[in-house]
Amino acid sequence: VSARAPIQTIPSQGEPDVTSLGQRYGAVRRATEALAAPLSAEDCLVQSMPDASPVKWHLAHSSWFFESFVLARVDGYREYHPSYGYLWNSYYESLGARHGRAQRGVLSRPSLEEVRGYRAHVDAAVADALAGRVLDAPALAALELGLNHEQQHQELILTDLKHAFAQNALAPVYRARPAGAAAGMAGAASSPEAAPLRWSRRAEGLASIGHDGRGFSFDNEGPRHRVFLGAFELASRPVTNAEYAAFIEDRGYARPELWLSDGWDAVRAGRWEAPLYWRREADRYETFTLAGTEPVAGAEPVTHVSYFEADAYARWAGARLPTEAEWEVFAADARLGGHFVESGRLHPAPAPRHGAEVVQLFGDVWEWTASPYVAYPGFCPFEGAAGEYNGKFMSGQMVLRGGSCVSPASHLRASYRNFFRPDTRWQFSGIRLARDV
Ligand SMILES: [Fe+2]
Repeated sequence: VSARAPIQTIPSQGEPDVTSLGQRYGAVRRATEALAAPLSAEDCLVQSMPDASPVKWHLAHSSWFFESFVLARVDGYREYHPSYGYLWNSYYESLGARHGRAQRGVLSRPSLEEVRGYRAHVDAAVADALAGRVLDAPALAALELGLNHEQQHQELILTDLKHAFAQNALAPVYRARPAGAAAGMAGAASSPEAAPLRWSRRAEGLASIGHDGRGFSFDNEGPRHRVFLGAFELASRPVTNAEYAAFIEDRGYARPELWLSDGWDAVRAGRWEAPLYWRREADRYETFTLAGTEPVAGAEPVTHVSYFEADAYARWAGARLPTEAEWEVFAADARLGGHFVESGRLHPAPAPRHGAEVVQLFGDVWEWTASPYVAYPGFCPFEGAAGEYNGKFMSGQMVLRGGSCVSPASHLRASYRNFFRPDTRWQFSGIRLARDV
């Protein structure tokens, strides 16, 4: 019998603050719609690979989540459409059969406008439920989970759309880069050179990692527990494009001794010669961004690399990837700096030349760790169908930390664990090095 924890996000004492929850609900839902606003109905339907979903699907699925986990708990609530549970369920076996993941791009019906109508219906029903104070503690906790879920889908809207646009020879521009879009990192965008890489040391000893239970967290972030760490050093910033280009120039992609066996298979099967979206143009590399095609900027953090590439690069560089515990002990003391979706860059920026000893732990690029995505000791999945949210994926994936230039800033924290298969490259995933002392 496995213990199951309620989605514990609401303080157990006193009246929950439904006004602030309602305001945050509105803000998160509007932020999603703002991401889709510049897109046509055709843009919103395209699916470029099974891992990526159409924007329209994200808009509908995130609404279905509130319907299934929050509104279904309201007495007398009737589902919006009898087929929407089938169409928009992602992977919840306990909630029934569903439309195939790889076939989401064929759903020309319902139309984008009908999906917007579905969103408006769910928004009105949630507002009514909050105003009428009919949501019990588990429903309020599920509402909080739904907001964090929708923020994850905001990031996926941009990464999935980028992958789709990258297949198009027109190299569509999603949004032009705002001038001086380096909010929070003065002068970084115009800096032609990266800050020099430094190493920051930690002595061996016990450390505590995992969420401490204050505020929202996903179930996979807990429980907080102690780990022993040997002495190690962490790089002051992520690996840059210029540094990664040196690995390519040194025939990094042609030397099997640098690669894990599965990684070498992936290099050969995918004919990888550079990060995803890079293209050799005469004597330089270009890359596709959400602002169109651009020359690769040497000082920017390398991104769209797989775990296999991160691992091979680290070996070539005489270092290794940090474990997630090593990453977290540094992040716990770091401020939430870096570029998030709010900066409007939608592309990683160079590390600041001045500032903290270790920078850019948050934002810009997710950082692959050497840690497999497995349960912490004493892990307790969420109760009910929400127990399928994270725990069942704890096999065959690696942990990434810190967030990216398309993550909402309010979504991230030091204990946050993202996870992807080691061969995936379409997320804004980068590399930070560590080494033994
Ligand atoms: Fe989802």
